[in-house]
Amino acid sequence: MNDYDAERIREILRRRGYQTTDDAEEADLVLLNTCSIREKAEAKVSSAAASFRGLKGRRPDVVLAVAGCVAQQEGARLLERLPQVDLVFGPDNIGRCADLVERVRESRRRVAVTDVIDVEDYTFLSADPRPEDVGTTVLVTIQKGCDNHCAYCVVPAVRGREVSRPLREVVAEVERFVAAGAREVTLIGQNVDSYRGAGGGTDDFVTLLVAVARVPGLLRLRFTTSHPRDFTPALARAFHDLPVLQGWLHLPVQAGSSRVLAAMGRGYTREEYLAKVDLVRGLVPEIALTTDVIVGFPGETADEHRETLSLLEAVEFESIYSFAYSARPGTPAAALRDDVPLEEKRARLHQVQALQQLVTARRLARLVGRRTPVLVEGESRRGEQVCGRTPGNIVVNFAPAAGTAPGSLRGRIVPVHVTAAGTHTLRGEPA
Ligand code: 5AD
Ligand code: SF4
Repeated sequence: MNDYDAERIREILRRRGYQTTDDAEEADLVLLNTCSIREKAEAKVSSAAASFRGLKGRRPDVVLAVAGCVAQQEGARLLERLPQVDLVFGPDNIGRCADLVERVRESRRRVAVTDVIDVEDYTFLSADPRPEDVGTTVLVTIQKGCDNHCAYCVVPAVRGREVSRPLREVVAEVERFVAAGAREVTLIGQNVDSYRGAGGGTDDFVTLLVAVARVPGLLRLRFTTSHPRDFTPALARAFHDLPVLQGWLHLPVQAGSSRVLAAMGRGYTREEYLAKVDLVRGLVPEIALTTDVIVGFPGETADEHRETLSLLEAVEFESIYSFAYSARPGTPAAALRDDVPLEEKRARLHQVQALQQLVTARRLARLVGRRTPVLVEGESRRGEQVCGRTPGNIVVNFAPAAGTAPGSLRGRIVPVHVTAAGTHTLRGEPA
């Protein structure tokens, strides 16, 4: 979500004459787009802001802005806490970011804007892609906010109510990206399978997928993130029925114990989750599954933690994202006693990651010796190899056939024979 937002901020500022630079010494504006999903992400904001203190001292005219969810959550408190910051604005105010920057520059006053746009009037930012900036794979937002109340999660508080972007707007944006050179689109939202079209309308998520899948020139379609509770048989069938929809499903489970899942307010049990996995694998046996896991939710016992480990064994995800629970301000779980000691959380996280490393190795090893279509995204650092992804979203590096310039393969699907597996990636050769 933040990657998408950062691109829109870049486009808006570019239309006002700004250019991006990798050298802060050269910048008139330094903008930190921030995330508050976990404590660690939030902590980065203070250290990043602190790292620009010297720059602000030497060149007080530089505007230092903080955007994103930490900005939304902390608002004017950030101005108090971080004296070098000039501007704070939340995700609903991105459309005004160029005006806000100018206001700060002209008035030399510090500003914090964290208004939330009314759900009724919400208009989505619209991408304005230029061929020179567009990569092979791009993100397209279909939804903002979240109406779930997962006990640990700050998203509903900072991103607000769930609003779906009108189907026609999504399709038009995908068309613009494809016209600018993109070949793969990932539709993004906090809970994409509860997509409802414009104004609570009748377009559901499968209808949207069918419409996007028809865009000429689009070679691959993905989406993230779906909620296990809302994952339907119709959506599982879409993987089977829509050839452009790639065989990759990110389905965050969060925990393996039904008691912990209930305490988290997830709305499904371990058994229901496993039944959905069986359903989708029954229809699309080769589908790659990935997930998110939280260890050390308040009250999680050692036995309940072992249920998470056994679920990881049972499902065999291709890869996972795993996190130690951290209390977030204003969430229901923040009122609970955070009773799993930090050391214990670290130990549980380590167990989860060590187990998954073995499972990932097993899953990747299965692919060695097979042929797989790879959409080439770019050249590797040394320029002799290219990299791309399998339908299951696994990175593959390979050297193009003799006489083929690596650059000429970008945006094309190449059949690759997988020759070896690394820790997270594959190596291959043109098949
Ligand atoms: N503590 C730890 N992990 C969290 N996540 C969300 N909130 C928290 C929290 N308070 C994780 C979930 C979610 C992912 C994006 O971040 O696993 O799916
Ligand atoms: Fe957070 Fe739950 Fe919404 Fe995901 S579904 S954004 S975890 S509240």
